[in-house]
Amino acid sequence: MGSKNFVIRNYEESRLSDRAQVADLEQRCEIGSSKRVFLFTDTLGDPICRIRHSPLYKMLVAEWNNEVVGVIQGSIKTAFSSAHKPPGLAAKVGYILGLRVAPPFRRRGIGCSLVHDLEDWFVANDVDYCCMATEKDNHASVNLFINHMRYVKFRTGRILVNPVTNHPYKINQSEIKIQKLKIEEAEEIYKKHMASTEFFPKDINSILKNNLSLGTWVAHYKKQPPPWSAAADIPLSWAVVSLWNSGEVFKLRLGKAPFPWVVYTKSLKMMDKMLPCLKVILVPDYFKAFGFYFVYGLHHEGACSERLVGVLCEFVHNLALSNAKDCKAIVTEIGGEDDELKMAIPHWKLLSCSEDLWCVKALKGEEDSLLEWKNGPPNRPLFVDPREV
Ligand SMILES: CC(C)(COP(=O)(O)OP(=O)(O)OC[C@H]1O[C@@H](n2cnc3c(N)ncnc32)[C@H](O)[C@@H]1OP(=O)(O)O)[C@@H](O)C(=O)NCCC(=O)NCCS
Repeated sequence: MGSKNFVIRNYEESRLSDRAQVADLEQRCEIGSSKRVFLFTDTLGDPICRIRHSPLYKMLVAEWNNEVVGVIQGSIKTAFSSAHKPPGLAAKVGYILGLRVAPPFRRRGIGCSLVHDLEDWFVANDVDYCCMATEKDNHASVNLFINHMRYVKFRTGRILVNPVTNHPYKINQSEIKIQKLKIEEAEEIYKKHMASTEFFPKDINSILKNNLSLGTWVAHYKKQPPPWSAAADIPLSWAVVSLWNSGEVFKLRLGKAPFPWVVYTKSLKMMDKMLPCLKVILVPDYFKAFGFYFVYGLHHEGACSERLVGVLCEFVHNLALSNAKDCKAIVTEIGGEDDELKMAIPHWKLLSCSEDLWCVKALKGEEDSLLEWKNGPPNRPLFVDPREV
């Protein structure tokens, strides 16, 4: 690494220059593959907003001649993991996100130093495992975490993005019943059915109670009783999702889109103007900052339950269309290679990420846990915490 020309220090929320410089850095760093689309995040003047809802969090900055040139965020929570021993005992999990280094200062060891110092904070807080997720084709990030910092890939997630278009989905209400749950009902259902999900948070209740959580909905076939029905002694088919208003926290903006995308969206607009009777489905203008809903706590059981997940996602789309003016996308992350589920969830391939690598590192030297993760079934569900999006 050579002699360091930079220092790593805590981000100071009260310092206006920190706020401004980090926000500016965020604007200059693209996320996403150059082959697909570039997305920029707009933190609305509050760079720490993405982790603020976690039980414990920290943001570090790298400074070069008093200029902020790098940033990283981390959060800590207590969660359940199949790899943690003894089984059923919760582990302390650190999560890394928002690593950015200004383009002119890259390849000078700043990214690695930021990760290293955040790991020191995890260790000081008795964290068992730290994890992070990155797109498979983000070579800089993959090399940094896997080759340099000894993280191990344990799962490939899929981030599915569905635009909120100008037309609602038609939902077959005669066959399928959708019901909103009270927070206590949702908590009970999650604890009963999702407790063995990888990284299921111990404080699920505080997520469900958070103002950003818009609700939990269950779908089941009308010919069957609902999943909580005491009388049910037959295998039931049902699905559950919860919704997080991520757009309240930060916005996204498309930086660059492939040429066919631009042509396609412009032609749709033109067609809609000329022939409104066709009721053309319009793609939102993603070049302006937009909000999005994040689907979390997705779980399904029983035959044909993937279809119920799909219907719940359509329901959520309609909710966004009628309730939220600036919500232009529904984002869902599934933590496994479940093709049937992926097909059931409405999404646009061009906006979605088919390979989001989840990587982990054992901070207390428990190499057995890493093996368990590496060799575990690729479809074991993963709880994607909306506070870490
Ligand atoms: C990823 C990022 C933070 C790396 O920051 P950085 O300060 O350049 O990283 P470092 O100098 O510490 O690099 C450490 C190692 O990572 C790997 N690496 C970094 N940039 C790389 C690149 N562009 N291509 C391939 N490998 C790269 C190399 O192995 C490098 O070691 P080396 O320079 O000895 O070969 C930076 O490129 C960035 O901000 N990218 C945009 C935002 C982003 O994608 N963040 C990650 C989200 S998870």
